Amino acid sequence: MTTTTSHSLAIAAKGLRKAYGDKTVLDGIDLAVPTGTVFSLLGPNGAGKTTAVKILSTLVTADAGELHVGGHDLAVAPQAVRAAIGVTGQFSAVDGLITGEENMLLMADLHHLPRQEGRRTAAELLERFDLTEAAKKPASTYSGGMKRRLDLAMTLVGDPRIIFLDEPTTGLDPRSRHNMWGIIRGLVADGVSVFLTTQYLEEADELADRIAVLHDGTIAAEGSAEELKRLVPGGHVRLRFTDPVAYRSAAAALREVTRDDEALTLQIPSDGSQRELRSILDWLDSAGVEADELTVHTPDLDDVFFALTGPTTSQSSQSKESVR
Ligand SMILES: Nc1ncnc2c1ncn2[C@@H]1O[C@H](COP(=O)(O)OP(=O)(O)O)[C@@H](O)[C@H]1O
Ligand SMILES: [Mg+2]
Repeated sequence: MTTTTSHSLAIAAKGLRKAYGDKTVLDGIDLAVPTGTVFSLLGPNGAGKTTAVKILSTLVTADAGELHVGGHDLAVAPQAVRAAIGVTGQFSAVDGLITGEENMLLMADLHHLPRQEGRRTAAELLERFDLTEAAKKPASTYSGGMKRRLDLAMTLVGDPRIIFLDEPTTGLDPRSRHNMWGIIRGLVADGVSVFLTTQYLEEADELADRIAVLHDGTIAAEGSAEELKRLVPGGHVRLRFTDPVAYRSAAAALREVTRDDEALTLQIPSDGSQRELRSILDWLDSAGVEADELTVHTPDLDDVFFALTGPTTSQSSQSKESVR
């Protein structure tokens, strides 16, 4: 249930369906992205993220679905949708043979900006994305992070209010990734609505107001990072043994543990707090348990993902979880 009207939604999809041949990529999914928020479509390679982006940005037609972007019906007014959005694709639109500045000016021309305004916009964006120094160098000489920044700068030439970012940090080193996160936060601060796809749970956790997990053509779960984390079993302390005899005696001594007889590990439910850890350690000492390794595990989005889509929980892929 939501009180948001369709006007305050930057992106709204109902029953979005797309198949390639007999392969159903999107099996009638619903999406709702409130204006000014970051929505993350999360899924592994081949889940259908790029397909969703291409459809919502009018590059590919859906087989079915009621789709609205920027308040415009995609089936009726694709031109109006195109005018409202910016798309930074998974594969860069940057032309490596020309300079960063020339790439920017090309975009300004595509947006029919007057010459002066085009130059000013290009210079401003190059400055904002820390590319002024490299502006006169061929884009082919740019690092991966610089190319992504140029790509995004090019997307912003038309001042779109809705932006699609398809895996904007895939393949970037951690520093460039953090840099890109800062840029995306800056866009959101300017009131831009962002549709972000990612394979990184951490990235969705960092940036997104709402996250949808795409699996087998359907939304396996949807909610805020906090809500998704509530879907998974709580944290635990994990004890690993190398000696099967020690493992068996520990398993016998400890009640309320989850056993993994193959991996020789025991899991004790815990919130990971210092206080609980101390009592667990005391308890292990008094039971004479000496584990080879002890690790503390607090649930993160990775756990959500595995809980929903992992091979060990095949029954969960059938039952849709909703955490609205
Ligand atoms: N033009 C196409 N023709 C046929 N199959 C396609 C086409 N585009 C994508 N697919 C298939 O659709 C599935 C989803 O692809 P994609 O949307 O690129 O996933 P993701 O972006 O999540 O990695 C994949 O199995 C892919 O092979
Ligand atoms: Mg993709």
